[in-house]
Amino acid sequence: MVKVAVLGYGTVGSGIVEVIKTNQEAINQKTEDEMDVKYILDLRDFPGDPYENLIVHDVDVIMNDPDVKVVAEAMGGVEPAYTFTKRALLAGKSVCTSNKELVEKHGQELMTIARENQCNYLFEASVGGGIPIIRTLNTALTPEKIDAITGILNGTTNYILTKMETEGADFNEVLKKAQEMGYAERNPEADIEGYDACRKIAILSSLAFGKNVDAADIYTEGITKITTNDFAYAKKFGATIKLLGMSKMIDGKYFAMVSPFILFPKNPLFSVSDVFNAILVHGNNLGNTMYYGAGAGKLPTASAVVSDMIDCARHLGKTFPCRWDAEKLQLSSFEDSSKRFFVRIDCAEKVKAESVFAGAEFAEGVVEGEIGFVSPAMSEKEYQEKAAQFDKIISMIRVEE
Ligand code: HSE
Repeated sequence: MVKVAVLGYGTVGSGIVEVIKTNQEAINQKTEDEMDVKYILDLRDFPGDPYENLIVHDVDVIMNDPDVKVVAEAMGGVEPAYTFTKRALLAGKSVCTSNKELVEKHGQELMTIARENQCNYLFEASVGGGIPIIRTLNTALTPEKIDAITGILNGTTNYILTKMETEGADFNEVLKKAQEMGYAERNPEADIEGYDACRKIAILSSLAFGKNVDAADIYTEGITKITTNDFAYAKKFGATIKLLGMSKMIDGKYFAMVSPFILFPKNPLFSVSDVFNAILVHGNNLGNTMYYGAGAGKLPTASAVVSDMIDCARHLGKTFPCRWDAEKLQLSSFEDSSKRFFVRIDCAEKVKAESVFAGAEFAEGVVEGEIGFVSPAMSEKEYQEKAAQFDKIISMIRVEE
């Protein structure tokens, strides 16, 4: 029997117990042993809960029990999750988590501690919820030199943008509705400002490129400035707008960014709508592969944590290989990266735009008194220099090809 413990009995923690109990037989078969939840750590009591007898309030009970071989950390945040994770790993207990904040900040260090103690620190659920992307990067894609990862990595903002597009609703209106429906947090800053997507692309980039990518080094822009007028132009150009997290290796230089992007139908991410996430990975032999699914939610996220727990339970005493070195990956300034730009300006500046952005594709009559255009490809720096020649840029959204 493999005894496991769950730290935190909130949404994800209770989902982990539910997934194990619901699919107990199949999980035992795949574990090649019986997986048994011995403890659930939480500060609260849960009277009437079917597993209330498993609740403990003292983490030492779990840490000091040699029977517990695998721990699911579903507490969220950095502390005390970091301290508890470290303690468990030092005691040779594998830890599996959905905690993207902790993985982004201390993932590399925690994996090293795991390796030194013949156990694992696994975090499939930290990016893309239930989508098996971490395991895929660490196994199926190992023959590849990955040169681009582009993802819709945040369900809340994808839901908001989808509603703005399909219902013509204003950003604040949709955000309020998303909060009422429980899709958006009461404090939605991490989602709408792009910080959540930034942590996730930092984790994916570290795994894809093998060196530590710091979220603080990634240029990040959220969706708060996107308006229904931007969507009206996107529609006119046959395009849509998505918040993308991306990292690319171009001519030996690495770029990473989180920002809203105009996407055309030829891009596989074009039709990823509502709360869904998708990650498009480009490898030098394989070309594009895309991974799609529920990027959040209790059971999809819990399922990904349990899949890691099964892996750990099946391979006790063995550490899975994972290339994420402590050395920092030097990112180049995003100003050097080249792309097309969608721009809105006052219609009085049309003639100037035709000359400064020669070769641009224009759209008129979408919003009174202004014009919009998609520029030819140029560097961010070049775009900034050209944009500075105009009285006012009403809005600018980058184009992802
Ligand atoms: N707030 C996140 C999202 C939850 O909306 O995608 C999953 O990480």
